[in-house]
Amino acid sequence: MISRFILLISIWGTGCSQDTGDPWDVFGILGESVTLPLKIPQGEKVYAFFWRFETEVTIALIKEGNGLDVVDSRFKGRLSIPDGNFSLQIQSLREEDGGSYTAQIATNSTAVSNREYKLHVFSRLQKPIIEPYKVTDGSGNIACNIALNCTVKNGGEGVKYTWTAENKRLFQEGSFLNVSLVPMESNVTYTCTARNPVSENSTQVRPWSFCMGENFRGSTRQTHYCIMKGIFTTIILAILLTAISVVHFKTRQRNV
Ligand SMILES: *[C@@H]1O[C@H](CO)[C@@H](O)[C@H](O)[C@H]1NC(C)=O
Ligand SMILES: *[C@@H]1O[C@H](CO)[C@@H](O)[C@H](O)[C@H]1NC(C)=O
Ligand SMILES: *[C@@H]1O[C@H](CO)[C@@H](O)[C@H](O)[C@H]1NC(C)=O
Ligand SMILES: *[C@@H]1O[C@H](CO)[C@@H](O)[C@H](O)[C@H]1NC(C)=O
Ligand SMILES: *[C@@H]1O[C@H](CO)[C@@H](O)[C@H](O)[C@H]1NC(C)=O
Ligand SMILES: *[C@@H]1O[C@H](CO)[C@@H](O)[C@H](O)[C@H]1NC(C)=O
Repeated sequence: MISRFILLISIWGTGCSQDTGDPWDVFGILGESVTLPLKIPQGEKVYAFFWRFETEVTIALIKEGNGLDVVDSRFKGRLSIPDGNFSLQIQSLREEDGGSYTAQIATNSTAVSNREYKLHVFSRLQKPIIEPYKVTDGSGNIACNIALNCTVKNGGEGVKYTWTAENKRLFQEGSFLNVSLVPMESNVTYTCTARNPVSENSTQVRPWSFCMGENFRGSTRQTHYCIMKGIFTTIILAILLTAISVVHFKTRQRNV
């Protein structure tokens, strides 16, 4: 066994291993787990098995059915192989886990074969945030022009945005959207969807709510409410002050 092991290592040293095709792209989600699938034909005897990261470092190995031995501290406690095959499961994915992985395996039918993987780590996207970043009053008071900005917090790389509208035919790519609305369209809602290779999430907005007209009506209501609140507070205060003076007066009378 030991001699075979040494033989194996020397074969790799001379680069005599057999590569099996292009790297497989595997997509993983940050903080979750991912499996690099590997199947070995039934009945084949596996002599040794190595998982390498970035083609240089051996991170884990199996020797003659002795279970997985994780040798790289970065992966300690985060690697496992399911029963029955040699797929590698990586748990609690980190951003720095992204990169190329190689499974190197020696069976009684092939000296050494390599299977390469390219792991891409992405975060699960949160709900995008829509911001109106420019509001201009269009032609007179009739149209309302709004520029909308859609972004995802901590989205990382590879996030793509699309805009769609419910009552209007629209499909636009990119995080910005310019809309021009007339009061008839006050109920039109727009949806911004953010996507990456592992997830998608979306947020709806009714742009009219950012338009002058509605804010103006809103502020009138606000004013009424404020006046009412003011009057109410004054009355309460007056009652309180009267009560305090009465009590104070009576106490002083008693003391005298
Ligand atoms: C490996 O085994 C696991 C669990 O038994 C299974 O979910 C997975 O599909 C298998 N993978 C392959 C490539 O056979
Ligand atoms: C590999 O070993 C298994 C049993 O361990 C045997 O059934 C199979 O025929 C062998 N394959 C080759 C190519 O020698
Ligand atoms: C969208 O993001 C929210 C948090 O912002 C999350 O609770 C929800 O599960 C996400 N939806 C999807 C489909 O990932
Ligand atoms: C869009 O929103 C992002 C995140 O809030 C911000 O950093 C960026 O400056 C905004 N873009 C514009 C043009 O306002
Ligand atoms: C939105 O309008 C601004 C000017 O108001 C313009 O600079 C920008 O290119 C427009 N964006 C899109 C996506 O049409
Ligand atoms: C907007 O919706 C409300 C209730 O859903 C409805 O009463 C109103 O007429 C609608 N306005 C327009 C302009 O369609």
